[in-house]
Amino acid sequence: MKAAVLHALGETPRCEELPVPVAGPGEVLVRVTAAPINAIDRARAAGTHYSVSAGAGLPMVPGVIGAGCLPDGRRVLFGSRSGTMADVASTPPDMCFPIPDSVDDAVAAAAWNPAVSAWMTLTWRAGLQPGETVLILGATGVTGRLAVQAARHLGAGRVVAAGRNPHSLAAVAELGADATLHVDAADPDLAAAFVHAAGGVGYDVVLDYLWGHPTEVLLSTLVQHDMLPHGRRIRLVQCGDMAGSHIALPAEVLRSSGLEILGSGSASIPPVERVTAALREILDLLARGTLRIEVERVPLERVAEVWGRDQQGRRPVLIP
Ligand SMILES: NC(=O)c1ccc[n+]([C@@H]2O[C@H](COP(=O)([O-])OP(=O)(O)OC[C@H]3O[C@@H](n4cnc5c(N)ncnc54)[C@H](OP(=O)(O)O)[C@@H]3O)[C@@H](O)[C@H]2O)c1
Repeated sequence: MKAAVLHALGETPRCEELPVPVAGPGEVLVRVTAAPINAIDRARAAGTHYSVSAGAGLPMVPGVIGAGCLPDGRRVLFGSRSGTMADVASTPPDMCFPIPDSVDDAVAAAAWNPAVSAWMTLTWRAGLQPGETVLILGATGVTGRLAVQAARHLGAGRVVAAGRNPHSLAAVAELGADATLHVDAADPDLAAAFVHAAGGVGYDVVLDYLWGHPTEVLLSTLVQHDMLPHGRRIRLVQCGDMAGSHIALPAEVLRSSGLEILGSGSASIPPVERVTAALREILDLLARGTLRIEVERVPLERVAEVWGRDQQGRRPVLIP
């Protein structure tokens, strides 16, 4: 079969011939129809994701999720340890979820990770309440764009989108953000922009796909000097680290602001029935055009060409 293959962490995967994987105990083989190149796949292949240890499982077929056909013909989204960027992948049946007729395989596969994670981060992790003010820090990526739409759909009162690419930010405004701001402004200007964009009420929820310096500037704006009880709970959820893997966190920020810092990742995945319910709703919203994601269908043979490319808000999906 054809597969994208990685022989060393940090390399670019290339399309090669490999034997068809052997299904493990209780697993089934899926004929893959669509495998998105998500940020997690690139980070795992680079060896920088916390789920990968040096030298583990090489050669590796990247891809943790995909769409495909089960032996009985059912179209499913599925998770795989054998790697989804191949003609065939193995999966446990409880990691398979039906795709409705009205949703295309590539769209469903592209949306699954970014949309479900954004949705669950807002609802399960941050506990978003109707009317609250949400900041999406790093809103120009595929996940940030879905987070903006999800926040809007879930009843946020005000949605602020922050990113560095003016062209992409304009597109994010069209997806429902009430305000946008540029994170590569000088620190005092960025700090003022964070405060201004909150619309006078402050942020209740921050989904942070950037971390690093933009987050440090945001945190500096949260310090309250008045010693008055504000009773505000600012739930900042650490989701990604596109702008840096570390921040400096002054003690006064936590003591004076009501800030609560959480993370979204493997350790905070909600119970499976919550995730399945969110996935069903997301697929329905995609079918109705309420949620939008841009995809670029790319033949599997061209994996090396598109692997490291700036995706500019449009997810490449490999088609075997
Ligand atoms: N924890 C979770 O549940 C979860 C789920 C999904 C994604 N994530 C993480 O979230 C992050 C984004 O994922 P994605 O799917 O949106 O990726 P993506 O589609 O590749 O987008 C990445 C975005 O980051 C922006 N960016 C890169 N460096 C930046 C910087 N220094 N300052 C500001 N913006 C910068 C890029 O903007 P430009 O257009 O300016 O290049 C691009 O829009 C990744 O770290 C990913 O691993 C986490």
